[in-house]
Amino acid sequence: MRKINSLNTTIIRKVLMALTGLFLCFFLIIHLAGNLQLLLPHEIAQTQYNAYSHILSGNFIIKLVSYVLYVSILAHALLALVLTIVNWRAGGSKYAVDKRRQVSGWITRNMGILGSLIFVFLIVHLADFWYVYKFGHPPMDAAGNKDLYTIVVEVYKEPLYVVGYVIAMIVLGFHLWHGFQSAFRTLGLYNFKYHKWVKYFGFFFSIVMTVGFAIIPIILYFRFAGG
Ligand code: HEM
Repeated sequence: MRKINSLNTTIIRKVLMALTGLFLCFFLIIHLAGNLQLLLPHEIAQTQYNAYSHILSGNFIIKLVSYVLYVSILAHALLALVLTIVNWRAGGSKYAVDKRRQVSGWITRNMGILGSLIFVFLIVHLADFWYVYKFGHPPMDAAGNKDLYTIVVEVYKEPLYVVGYVIAMIVLGFHLWHGFQSAFRTLGLYNFKYHKWVKYFGFFFSIVMTVGFAIIPIILYFRFAGG
């Protein structure tokens, strides 16, 4: 009976991890689309990106979704930690996995390390942009909006930062590649009918996210550093 209860709890935890993970994937699509505005020609990008951020930060629905996002990030990380500890205690592998059609043994075994690196990236990332925007004293642009565009451009003038971001985006790509398939497997959608689609879409999604996010600091660096 105790064994069944703990199995049920583990399944609930895995389902919650899958759902929060997929929600975070959805956030990444929106976040990438918004941030690609940074690559517009300088004069348009500054006004447009700052106005966009201003509208988002004042919108009640977006605020509500942001709280769901913060809770999802924390829940996803904590559940991963609990599952890892439970598996260690049970004497199993570090991460409970179904051995069918794994993306790669190394990625599967090291999802915890990849996730922890992304968590560290997030802390630095939020401190640099989100915290300064919400609680710091950012400069203002000509239209009277907080000049988030200039904050981002200044950060990416630092080559070490750009390298750090690109490495973090590669780590994110590997984490998404396995995580995407793992989530669908947990939700029972990685079956004979759909597994090929899930596999190809997961791979495509990881590449688009990694390349899409990584080109932003690279392009901004070459456009503005030393200028
Ligand atoms: C080059 C890539 C990226 C750029 C330029 C960028 C830029 C920004 C900026 C300017 C903000 C502050 C805006 C605001 O709070 O409204 C922000 C917030 C945030 N970013 Fe990023 N970001 C990038 C990649 C990422 C990645 C890969 C992740 C996740 C792994 C991420 C997660 C977040 C989160 C969770 C927030 C807080 C959002 C909120 O408060 O609603 N970002 N980002």
